[in-house]
Amino acid sequence: MKTTRFTLASLASLALAASAALLAHPALSAPSDNKAAARPDPNASPIYGVTIPKGYRQWEFVAPALEKEPLNELRTVVGNKIAMDAYKKGKLPFPDGSILVKLAYKYTQSPDFESALVPDHATTVQVMVKDSKKYAASGGWGYGRFINGKPVDEAQHQTCFACHAARVKDRDYVFTRLVP
Ligand code: HEC
Repeated sequence: MKTTRFTLASLASLALAASAALLAHPALSAPSDNKAAARPDPNASPIYGVTIPKGYRQWEFVAPALEKEPLNELRTVVGNKIAMDAYKKGKLPFPDGSILVKLAYKYTQSPDFESALVPDHATTVQVMVKDSKKYAASGGWGYGRFINGKPVDEAQHQTCFACHAARVKDRDYVFTRLVP
């Protein structure tokens, strides 16, 4: 009995030492966008570790989109300054630090005007973050899809790059064009 207890205790201290070593490892500390690697963040997307960027509601508008049946959604894409500068200059690929956010809403008949469809409840917020090194395996973009501020499951995140790559690889995997 004594031996077993001793072994368990040794194992526990080994595990502690191992996690201390991991925490001290330089690659797992420092850069804030790498936090997800050190400590899984419940607000970060699976696979990519992308979070909803702060202040995106103040970002510049790229374009709207209307999604027909079966989704019936209104979408708005906005971009941070790095992304918008690249859009305006027609610069491809988008530089590192570019972030694009798509906000989606169900639409509904306007109670005020017959021919108008207006936003109903919000469905998803989707994010693409450019980091050509970190996300080299997915065309340089990290992806995140969020419902009520929480990331959706890994299976959904496995679909992002495939669809963007199949359709718009030649525009740096970005569908939305800047509207005047
Ligand atoms: C089946 C195809 C498909 C899949 C899968 C897909 N997207 Fe997209 N995505 C689109 C299309 C089409 C647009 C253009 C805007 C629109 O019509 O909504 C778009 C636009 C975007 C945009 C705005 C920038 C751009 O490229 O126009 C973001 C951000 C985005 N998607 C994130 C994601 C994320 C995150 C996932 C995975 C969770 C994902 N997408 C999966 C088709 C797809």
